[in-house]
Amino acid sequence: MSPKYAFPTLAAEEAAALINNGAMVGFSGFTPAGAAKAVPRAIAEKARKQHDAGEPYQIRIITGASTGVLDEELAQADAVKWRAPYQSSRTLGKLINTGKCQFVDMHLSHVAQVLYEGFLGTMDYAVIEATDVMPDGRVFLTSSVGAAPTYLQQAEKVIIEINRYHSPRVSELADIRLMPPPPHRSPIPIYHPLERIGWPYAVVDPKKIVGIVETNEPDGVGSFAPPNEACVKIADNVVQFLLEELRAGRIPPEFLPLQSGVGNIANAVMKGLGDNPDIPPFHMYTEVFQDALMPLMQQGKLLGASTCSLTLSPPALESLYANIDEYVDRLVLRPQELSNNPGVIRRLGVIAMNTALEVDIYGHANSTHVSGTTMMNGIGGSGDFTRNAYLSIFMCPSIAKDGKISTVVPFCSHVDHNEHSIQVIVTDQGLADLRGLSPDERACAIIDNCAHPAYRPWLHDYLASCGPGHIRHNLARAFELHQNLKEHGAMLPEAAAELAASKN
Ligand code: COA
Repeated sequence: MSPKYAFPTLAAEEAAALINNGAMVGFSGFTPAGAAKAVPRAIAEKARKQHDAGEPYQIRIITGASTGVLDEELAQADAVKWRAPYQSSRTLGKLINTGKCQFVDMHLSHVAQVLYEGFLGTMDYAVIEATDVMPDGRVFLTSSVGAAPTYLQQAEKVIIEINRYHSPRVSELADIRLMPPPPHRSPIPIYHPLERIGWPYAVVDPKKIVGIVETNEPDGVGSFAPPNEACVKIADNVVQFLLEELRAGRIPPEFLPLQSGVGNIANAVMKGLGDNPDIPPFHMYTEVFQDALMPLMQQGKLLGASTCSLTLSPPALESLYANIDEYVDRLVLRPQELSNNPGVIRRLGVIAMNTALEVDIYGHANSTHVSGTTMMNGIGGSGDFTRNAYLSIFMCPSIAKDGKISTVVPFCSHVDHNEHSIQVIVTDQGLADLRGLSPDERACAIIDNCAHPAYRPWLHDYLASCGPGHIRHNLARAFELHQNLKEHGAMLPEAAAELAASKN
């Protein structure tokens, strides 16, 4: 027992020793932000030793969203039997796509409820990163909230990783409240992105805490590459569209809260909005707060943000911690059940901007499965926002893999977001505003405005070959591009060769 804590302190290896083969473990973390670090690494080491000794060792893992070292190291040690609700590790992805790890891809706002309902079984352990834990069970979380408050409630036993890297003041950003099960819910009183409705700490029954592991380690969030040409064009198309909506009065002069997805396109769009003097200062109601948002906040363009995680590279997070007084009233860190809550998103009139792998000519989007089969990352929060936003925008480059792939296809090989939820599709080529358009009108707008010119003739030819119907398809040809990709390495080999030649 350390005099610092009311709970025993453990080495990470001692904590890992408690977690048995087959255990279900809820780890904190929403992106690498706030993810448990030392204990999962020690579990990976334990798994290796067990495997070397010919013993089985794999655990079931649930987190808030993706993580950093946690997934990668556990996957490399072949220690993951089952995973939910989202991940982005290359090694784990391979295990998922070869059937060696079972993966449950879920809307992130659903995680708490599915757990309460018992569909995921008993949670044996929660391993939660914190800056401090009080004898009465108050747990002060670090750079993300995610689903950690739920895991603290649901787990049979709890291990707390106290990470000294984080400023203890980060908990001043947290606003934590758990929703009771229906029918005991009242309206969630968030009427403004920065409205606070909870407490700066999560709560656990202190009797469940079996130990504290001390660490001092950054989150390991990578920095983003400078935006490429396609990202800049997409960003420019989005900014021009939002300005037009503002002029038309469909976005009010004070603007509406924005949600932006993860990755380079999202960063480019946020930078584009920040740089444009005609876009008024705005708020965000989003799930991930990325590097690109820091300068916008410093310039006063971003007035404040509700988020679930501070997914910031170490220099950006350290700058936030060093100047935390400037952020405490302008950043709110919420559990994912609230940051991604459909009712709040609809009430606030959020403008959602997410990225797809492919879109089809009728306005469906695939965010998750390459060629309909290979899991990329997962749906994450994109569905929570897309279905419920005031305006849902989907973005992607018009081509991928140097033109071997058209991201505009006749029929999405997997559908995460359907034609009823998506209002606008944007690529580097242009923008299709689908509001009020029939399927035939949508198809023409998407092909002419969003598809790469090298693929437009084929897509029009496809449309011409379709029989009658409300949404017209030629089922014999609907997946011809995907089939070509599989058989010949390119959706249209000649077009791909021309695109490659024009690039050189
Ligand atoms: N078919 C096959 N591969 C494709 C493809 C397609 N239609 N479109 C893109 N790719 C490939 C790219 O070439 C790239 O390959 P590489 O890693 O070998 O270079 C890879 O897929 C990623 O593409 P990129 O354009 O860099 O995507 P991204 O980083 O912008 O991510 C998603 C796009 C869809 C994977 C990502 O946004 C995601 O996981 N979304 C779901 C979760 C989400 O939206 N969360 C938002 C709420 S915060």
